[in-house]
Amino acid sequence: MRIVFASSEAVPFSKTGGLADVAAGLTKALAAAGHHVTLITPHYPRLFPPELPRLPTKATVQVPLGANRVTGHLLRSEFPDSNVDVVLIDQQEFFNRGSLYVEGGRDYPDNAERFLFFSRAVMEAIHRLNLAPDVIHANDWQTGLVTALVAQEYRRLPGCEQTANIFTIHNMAFQGRFHRDLMALTGIDWRHFNYHEMESYGDLNLLKTGIVFSDVVTTVSPTYANEITRAEFGYGLENTLGVKFDRLVGVLNGVDTTEWNPKIDPFLDTCYTASTVEAGKAACKAALQKELGLNADPDALLFGMVSRMADQKGFDLIAARIEDILKANVQFAFLGTGERRYEDLVTRLAQENPGRISASLVFSEGLAHRIEAGADAYLMPSRFEPCGLNQQYSLLYGTVPIVHRTGGLADTVVDARPETVANGTANGFVFDSYDPNSFLTSVWQCVGCFQHDKAQWRQLIQNGMREDRSWKRSAAEYAAIYERAIGWLK
Ligand code: ADP
Ligand code: GLC
Repeated sequence: MRIVFASSEAVPFSKTGGLADVAAGLTKALAAAGHHVTLITPHYPRLFPPELPRLPTKATVQVPLGANRVTGHLLRSEFPDSNVDVVLIDQQEFFNRGSLYVEGGRDYPDNAERFLFFSRAVMEAIHRLNLAPDVIHANDWQTGLVTALVAQEYRRLPGCEQTANIFTIHNMAFQGRFHRDLMALTGIDWRHFNYHEMESYGDLNLLKTGIVFSDVVTTVSPTYANEITRAEFGYGLENTLGVKFDRLVGVLNGVDTTEWNPKIDPFLDTCYTASTVEAGKAACKAALQKELGLNADPDALLFGMVSRMADQKGFDLIAARIEDILKANVQFAFLGTGERRYEDLVTRLAQENPGRISASLVFSEGLAHRIEAGADAYLMPSRFEPCGLNQQYSLLYGTVPIVHRTGGLADTVVDARPETVANGTANGFVFDSYDPNSFLTSVWQCVGCFQHDKAQWRQLIQNGMREDRSWKRSAAEYAAIYERAIGWLK
């Protein structure tokens, strides 16, 4: 199949979260399975990795944006280790910025213009480069308009009628809601600005647009696919999703094991495998304690957490119980940026507990890898989690996760109970109810196991490390979804 994949971020070109990992991991796996894949993403010149090529194509696109036409330049690049075609949309005014969506804690005021432009530019690039895709796959609100353009414009062109229109939701909490006047920039007829299509609560809603116009809506884990048809997780779009329930599919994200693999990780001084994990992790832990100014104590249980600092991620549970947890011989390594109140919280905790808590308020790929390798256990008590990648990285790095039973966390972590330990599936600790005491109970189970039951601890590590989490299986599921959607159009 010929596949065009549109994403506002993709590793290693840009990243704020898991979408960037997925855009790279899934496209590479689809290409490895023999499909012709073009990834289209904005060109953020200030974030671009200097070692990668940026080849001018001499192609420009004139992108209609309301009454104006905005010029974009098409550049080509590539992933170092795959044959995915990467097309970068260059538009200095919109994308030559220090970060992707937010500055000084606030969304850029022209985010609607920027990503409506990008969505229309994706379609123009498809024409200009004669990509002739069988599948156009858009992701999250930033490319929600793509699905409307495919349904309302592209598929009406001769020869394009059978192009599958796929949309993936990575997070219901970010919907791209903008003032209704911005509807004029979409180029879609105003009659679609209604409750059943592009409007919600009086605003233009780009996530809803993506859901409504696509042939299949996927989301990033089976449990989350189920959850988002309920008010608690649907963020006001549960009914829109309910209508499409027979075309809503959960496909679990995989892991790009060329990037996240303790056997070959270039960010680590000591690499390891499942058979050398004990010595390997001991060395990584000692190095991490040194790097972060934590006490050099091999017996302290070191908890890691690498996360956007947002409500979603469960910092309120940690805040509520960390004083209790600190009564045990434990340490914490926090890495993340985001909401001020959580940044302040971990900074204060680090100041009050020197040698036991470290807080790094930066975005650091290298430190993220070293925490995954050096920590004993990983905290991911998210309130909700569409898929979650870090718990999966933790499992592969022999770092035992503690998670709330929600979304993709529920689909990847198996709680250590007598029966799961006996049948060899247990790989972490899972609490059912989102409250501080349930969280604390799981933490104590984890601490107890680490301190007093080394045999079981080793078993949890082995169970987590030995499971296949590569993208191959998920990419095959996406390919089957594409085939099915193409079949419906015939
Ligand atoms: P989400 O997409 O909701 O943020 P995921 O678990 O899917 O959550 O993915 C988060 C990704 O972003 C992971 O690859 C994680 O390592 C990375 N990440 C988050 N914060 C940082 C940070 N401060 N430094 C480096 N990587 C980070
Ligand atoms: C979102 C979700 C996260 C998921 C990621 C990639 O950012 O919050 O759970 O893993 O997208 O799909």
